[in-house]
Amino acid sequence: MAKLWGGRFTKETNKLVERYTASISFDQQLAEEDIEGSLAHVQMLGECGVIAAEEAEQIKEGLLKIKEKIQTGEVQFSVEHEDIHMNIEKLLIDEIGPVGGKLHTGRSRNDQVATDMHLYLRKKINRFVQLLEEVQQAIIKQAEAHVKTILPGYTHLQRAQPVSFAHHLLAYFWMFERDKERFKDSLKRVNISPLGAGALAGTTFPINRRRTAELLGFDGVYPNSLDAVSDRDFILEFLSTASILMMHISRLSEELVIWSSQEFQFIELDDAFCTGSSIMPQKKNPDVPELLRAKTGRVYGHLIGLLTVLKGLPLAYNKDMQEDKEGMLDTVATLEGALQLLAPMLDTMQVNTEKMRQAVQEDYANATDIADYLVNKGVPFREAHAIIGQVVLYAIQHKKFLLDLSLDEYRQFSPLFEADIYDILQPEHVVSARKSEGGTAFNEVKKQLELAKTVLEEKA
Ligand code: ARG
Repeated sequence: MAKLWGGRFTKETNKLVERYTASISFDQQLAEEDIEGSLAHVQMLGECGVIAAEEAEQIKEGLLKIKEKIQTGEVQFSVEHEDIHMNIEKLLIDEIGPVGGKLHTGRSRNDQVATDMHLYLRKKINRFVQLLEEVQQAIIKQAEAHVKTILPGYTHLQRAQPVSFAHHLLAYFWMFERDKERFKDSLKRVNISPLGAGALAGTTFPINRRRTAELLGFDGVYPNSLDAVSDRDFILEFLSTASILMMHISRLSEELVIWSSQEFQFIELDDAFCTGSSIMPQKKNPDVPELLRAKTGRVYGHLIGLLTVLKGLPLAYNKDMQEDKEGMLDTVATLEGALQLLAPMLDTMQVNTEKMRQAVQEDYANATDIADYLVNKGVPFREAHAIIGQVVLYAIQHKKFLLDLSLDEYRQFSPLFEADIYDILQPEHVVSARKSEGGTAFNEVKKQLELAKTVLEEKA
């Protein structure tokens, strides 16, 4: 089969080479963007008089026909035509004849492929912002139901101080908010047009780059043609934002796995989001959060992979850069799957408020509050800390919790203890007392919840 670039060659390409260098198996996912870019390019060529208006019209019609054929699955892509760009050009020439050969006037696959990826990532980033908002909605729904649900808050995975469950969940709301901000901010760099940079140096034809940028909805054009075809920063940035997002999803997933264990029993994931064991009939496994946690690995891998591909490349385009695609496409698929599952899984999660309550009660997580009690009576914090350390040790040795000690027992450690200590030690009091801005006091959490809702509505 004749190559579109076959002119200066005297031999057929080795079949293994053909296979090895082709990208059609994966870049066919960019078909829609490739046609979109070509439609804008050809319209501009017609407007600028680089090709005749009727020719531009014929090419446009041909491209639309090919788009339709791709959508209905009538098209067979071939390795002989290497990539999506040459496959579509070949299909076009087959469809409308030699005039199809005018499409590639004044451009190169180098600015073409970069354009495709800018268009593709713009579309996907907008989709991820939307999917993240669905996850945030699910978090808000659970948080609204659990402002007054108290569970132990942990540091070092040791019970530290009780917190509102809504407060804990909302921490993830803000992580996802930052992920959204990073995605949206990156659009400034994603949404610019490399088209018209040609192979590397620009073109001799009187094209209008601003016009194609406008037709494609880009906010501007790359000011340097070499940079336009060599830049993959916008993909790296996408991969790094995706990596941070996956890290957040992984941390949340880890908590879901722990919380749904027999040891914690704080939550139960809906049956629809769990799987069973082939041997142990009693098992209900949290496979979804486990896989979400694990899939973080491949996304980090793609980021490091592409950073490494690019690090030694001279300007401008190098074939190495074809390796930017599979990692990007896999990251898109991974994020899409993760975010689509996360929202309904959180939404349908059952919260075992009694188990959380029990964990709070059978614990010493209110110890800081008796230390603060003594501090309020004038004892320096460090001294109070030492006294309460003794109290906790005494309680542990006597197999009691802090609420079970008598006032006489408390007074052995300090004469400042009064009967009101028992109110101070109640979990509700312990939580309510943390009124500092952004703290876990119920009123603070309610304010935070309102803020989260406003942020989500404003941006929607
Ligand atoms: N398939 C190529 C890629 O993905 C398209 C650009 C090819 N350009 C070239 N000069 N060989 O990078």
